[in-house]
Amino acid sequence: MNLSLEPMLPADIPDVVRIERESFSTTWPGDAFHTELQTNRLAHYYVGKIDGTVVAYGGIWVIMEDSHITTIAVDPRYRGRKYGELLLVKLLDEAVSRGAAWMTLEVRESNLIAQNLYRKYGFTTVSTRRGYYTDNNENALVMWAGNLKSDLFANRLRSLRSLLPA
Ligand SMILES: CC(C)(COP(=O)(O)OP(=O)(O)OC[C@H]1O[C@@H](n2cnc3c(N)ncnc32)[C@H](O)[C@@H]1OP(=O)(O)O)[C@@H](O)C(=O)NCCC(=O)NCCS
Repeated sequence: MNLSLEPMLPADIPDVVRIERESFSTTWPGDAFHTELQTNRLAHYYVGKIDGTVVAYGGIWVIMEDSHITTIAVDPRYRGRKYGELLLVKLLDEAVSRGAAWMTLEVRESNLIAQNLYRKYGFTTVSTRRGYYTDNNENALVMWAGNLKSDLFANRLRSLRSLLPA
């Protein structure tokens, strides 16, 4: 089924929070998403919907030429169907359209699935933040991709996009 990607609205937040709780051991409260949508002009959040139901979400901050993935998750019942990848491509498109040249993110050292997804899109590990996750003192890998404005990156994105469901 086709994933419909749309800007996140306040009405989507209860579903987003449910997926967040099923996806992460430390979670953002609903208030944090409201604040992001209503007061953070650097923030851009999207949801992916199937038949009107939110099954995925993600967001970035864009600050001049730098962008940062703040969160991305897919409802556990809908994983492995390229929805996470479609959302990542949407975030990359959004960042590029707003003039970003670079994108960074933090990911748990143990989260090999997410790391695979990011590596597929050209992200590489540039540093480690020791004990970054306070729930279990796990390290964060800082991953980075760029130059998003280069022909090399645009060609990679185009060819990966052509393999995704429409
Ligand atoms: C990470 C996440 C968003 C991926 O979403 P998804 O819809 O299940 O993944 P997709 O079907 O789009 O797969 C895209 C790529 O991710 C990687 N991937 C997905 N599932 C994988 C698995 N079970 N094992 C290894 N790699 C996997 C692969 O690189 C895959 O590309 P491929 O199919 O060409 O091999 C999802 O697993 C999730 O929500 N995880 C919990 C939240 C989280 O960890 N977010 C990231 C925080 S940094």
